[in-house]
Amino acid sequence: MGILLTVANRKGGVGKSTITTMLAHGFAATGEQRVLVVDLDTQCNSSIILTGGEKWDWARREQKTIADFVNERYDRPRLRPDEFILHDVGDIEAPVGQLSVLSGSLDLEDVENELLHNRARAGQDLHAAEQGIISRFGTMLEDFADAFDVVIFDCPPGLSFSARAALRIAHKVIVPFRPDFVSSYAIDRISTVIEEGNDLHTVLSVPKEKRRYIGLVNFWRDGNFQRLHYGNVAAAHPVMRTAIPQDDGIAEAFEYRGEPLSLDEKYGSAASVVRALCGETVDSIITRYEREAAA
Ligand SMILES: Nc1ncnc2c1ncn2[C@@H]1O[C@H](COP(=O)(O)OP(=O)(O)OP(=O)(O)O)[C@@H](O)[C@H]1O
Ligand SMILES: [Mg+2]
Repeated sequence: MGILLTVANRKGGVGKSTITTMLAHGFAATGEQRVLVVDLDTQCNSSIILTGGEKWDWARREQKTIADFVNERYDRPRLRPDEFILHDVGDIEAPVGQLSVLSGSLDLEDVENELLHNRARAGQDLHAAEQGIISRFGTMLEDFADAFDVVIFDCPPGLSFSARAALRIAHKVIVPFRPDFVSSYAIDRISTVIEEGNDLHTVLSVPKEKRRYIGLVNFWRDGNFQRLHYGNVAAAHPVMRTAIPQDDGIAEAFEYRGEPLSLDEKYGSAASVVRALCGETVDSIITRYEREAAA
């Protein structure tokens, strides 16, 4: 069974989709991990980055998006996810079968709301209905681990039901953050959601290596102001060693170029950062998970 990685932060614009696609491109390029990206954001950024838009339009027309999968699977628990997945996506040179995506959908929020209304109409109280939906979503999303080595969930900003399900089932949650004043509050808040039912004080009393989440600093420029805020976050929360610099190559890699590129062509001088991020993810997250799963 593969590892489930969720990339999340309630705060918008911190680099969730960027980190998701960096990991996907990096793992695909090394050819060692078969990767699936599941796009839970109705903005569909990671789907568009990985498919270029044309294939994403096709997936919407053919009803092969996350919203279609959830809709169909909700009442048919035996339905396998395979037919909804787009294989061999991404403009990166990679062995066949290495990189796949379950496309995001503009309709996912509507589907989530409809499920909630159905349960409310059937007489369930709101909390029970929400928990029921999150739990069903979790079971659906977990299935993806059967056919891939790494499944990466790109979450929307905020907390949709599917995002909460992805937080709940993740073996590890990667929380990208900007090193600024408000970010430490954002990580405080999401850490209590990830470590469910615990207040911040209780979360902070758990040893950092035992927590289900890890921060990842993005937009790094190594100035005094950034070091101060990074230090505040790192004092309270686990943080990855790799710092993702603010870099034009990273911003430009958001564009789909339509032909397979090497990691160096795709990311320019930031390719070494992609390799470092993937290397650290393998060494400190995936290998550890595999060891614990085997024990
Ligand atoms: N390290 C970086 N260097 C330069 N630009 C970056 C970097 N990280 C992200 N960006 C740019 O910042 C913008 C926001 O990044 P991204 O979309 O990945 O954030 P997000 O957290 O997924 O946003 P949302 O909350 O809307 O889903 C994008 O235009 C992206 O190209
Ligand atoms: Mg995003």
